Amino acid sequence: MLVLRSNPASPFVRKVRIVAARLNLDDRIELSDADTSDPADPLRTQNPLGKIPALILENGEVLYDSAVIVEYLDWLAGGGKVIPTDPASRFRSLTRQALADGICEAAVILRYEALWREPERRSEKWMAHQSDKIARALAASENDPPEELDDVGTIALACALGYLDLRFEGAWRALHPKLVAWLEVFAETTPSFEATRFGG
Ligand code: BEZ
Repeated sequence: MLVLRSNPASPFVRKVRIVAARLNLDDRIELSDADTSDPADPLRTQNPLGKIPALILENGEVLYDSAVIVEYLDWLAGGGKVIPTDPASRFRSLTRQALADGICEAAVILRYEALWREPERRSEKWMAHQSDKIARALAASENDPPEELDDVGTIALACALGYLDLRFEGAWRALHPKLVAWLEVFAETTPSFEATRFGG
């Protein structure tokens, strides 16, 4: 078995799980919850950065981050399944993944800032810097909504939007009607999106 060090709320873990389901590899992956804030959790020896997801292979080798894990799973499934092989589609998909992962990174920073720092110690400038990244990435995605539904770029985008729904009350929806419509179709056609919904 492959072991995925994870947290059910993480959009990066969700991306890996949806990719695994899409590639029929989910039966080969055991989920193991990791506590990123606990120094005693073996996560920090598995991934020196102490970040999830980390995938422990059968030979003990550990892969991270989520983009590398997705690439490994695609390779395991024969290649060219969620990461297209033709250059134009491949680099569009990988760039969309990078954009979506960037939304998640900024959103997680905002989440932890609100969770861990008292209001009087929060930096408005830092939070605005992160919010602006999300706003620009959403605007770019709204201007160029995906046509695909099952490549890594679109799976990553769905997970980013899902995370904004989970932690930021879906405020993105008001300004991005094309993405709202696209996500609805993605959810209808991707059972693992619902199956990996945190708290669902
Ligand atoms: C969250 O609870 O929002 C979260 C947990 C783990 C990783 C990222 C986000």
